Amino acid sequence: MNEVRIGIIGLGTMGIEHIETIGNTDHVRLTAVCDYQKSLADEQAEKNSVKAYYTANELMNSGEIDAVLIATPHYYHTPIAIDAFEAGLHVLCEKPVAVHKADAEKMIEAHEKHPELKFAVMLQVRTDGYYKKIKHLIDSGELGKIYRVNWIITNWFRTQTYYNSGTWRATWKGEGGGVLLNQAPHQLDLFQWIFGMPTKIRAYCSLGKYHDIEVEDEVTAYCEFKEGFSGLFITSTGEAPGTNRLEIMTDRGRLVSENGKIIFDQTEESVSEFLKTTKSAFDAPAIKTIEIPTDGKVGIHQNIIENFADAILNGTELIASGEDGMNSVELANSFLYSSLEDVTVELPLNSAKFAQTLNKLM
Ligand SMILES: NC(=O)c1ccc[n+]([C@@H]2O[C@H](COP(=O)([O-])OP(=O)(O)OC[C@H]3O[C@@H](n4cnc5c(N)ncnc54)[C@H](O)[C@@H]3O)[C@@H](O)[C@H]2O)c1
Repeated sequence: MNEVRIGIIGLGTMGIEHIETIGNTDHVRLTAVCDYQKSLADEQAEKNSVKAYYTANELMNSGEIDAVLIATPHYYHTPIAIDAFEAGLHVLCEKPVAVHKADAEKMIEAHEKHPELKFAVMLQVRTDGYYKKIKHLIDSGELGKIYRVNWIITNWFRTQTYYNSGTWRATWKGEGGGVLLNQAPHQLDLFQWIFGMPTKIRAYCSLGKYHDIEVEDEVTAYCEFKEGFSGLFITSTGEAPGTNRLEIMTDRGRLVSENGKIIFDQTEESVSEFLKTTKSAFDAPAIKTIEIPTDGKVGIHQNIIENFADAILNGTELIASGEDGMNSVELANSFLYSSLEDVTVELPLNSAKFAQTLNKLM
């Protein structure tokens, strides 16, 4: 086998974009499409000279595919992925991998029964040069001990017209959350990919603060990590202009990723040493400002599709596995749980309890 025959399930905004990407990617061939809206499936089938299916199960039993790319609204990710594993198919699932942790656990359990199959998640921003670089700097210890991390990610501005564009959008029943489930999953994933999972979370989520929607459109979450540093994660779909600023305070200064640049204001000596030993009451350590170069790569979907095919064909390690995908869902769920129940959450989150809370909201 030198190419992966893939079928896309869900032919909306993402599904159609993925058709084009697959067309430009080696070792993957689109062989079937599926959408329960017949006209969409027929249109894409004709355009791409492949067969149309109107249910995921028909597609899975067709014998025409080795793998599925799931691009439906989030709630369908779980049942479709479980059926795909049972049908002996590899799975590449759109983010968020599931609406809540209990569903992600079910997918992982189904996958564990078929370890020969690959289970990947479309978390393409992990392949972006900026974030790869920041992760490398943190992992290598080059920045010194971390004191605090702040991520303000408010450039997800969405209008009421956007929310009105699909009946599933921004409802507990259709989406299971708002900005945390739809817009910010990439940054939630990077937050834990770079800094690890927090041990404690206290969050405040505003439901429908800016829009006429049921779910959260603004979030402020305070996190504590086992290494002793704290983190703040702020996101919103109602502010303009928005900000995307990741600030990391360490014992050797401040690293900021903003406006497509990584700037490190590096102190000439350890901040904690200076603070303890200097004779001056108000001086701060001298700094030198360094712009940190990256490989310039953009975090595009194609990188994940290529990696998925490479993992199936050659056993290459996945950039983002199903298990990796569960972490950002657990963060999103924990932020919501903390806010809705007015409690501090200790991780790991009790997935059954969160599922109960969500059920009540639905
Ligand atoms: N990775 C990214 O950067 C990124 C960007 C945008 C959206 N997404 C994700 O992609 C997914 C889809 O989002 P979208 O904006 O394309 O949605 P959309 O509403 O535009 O399209 C969804 C399509 O799925 C079809 N569908 C729904 N249930 C189905 C089922 N059971 N079987 C077959 N078809 C079904 C619908 O008819 C629709 O055509 C979401 O989970 C979203 O979070 C990811």
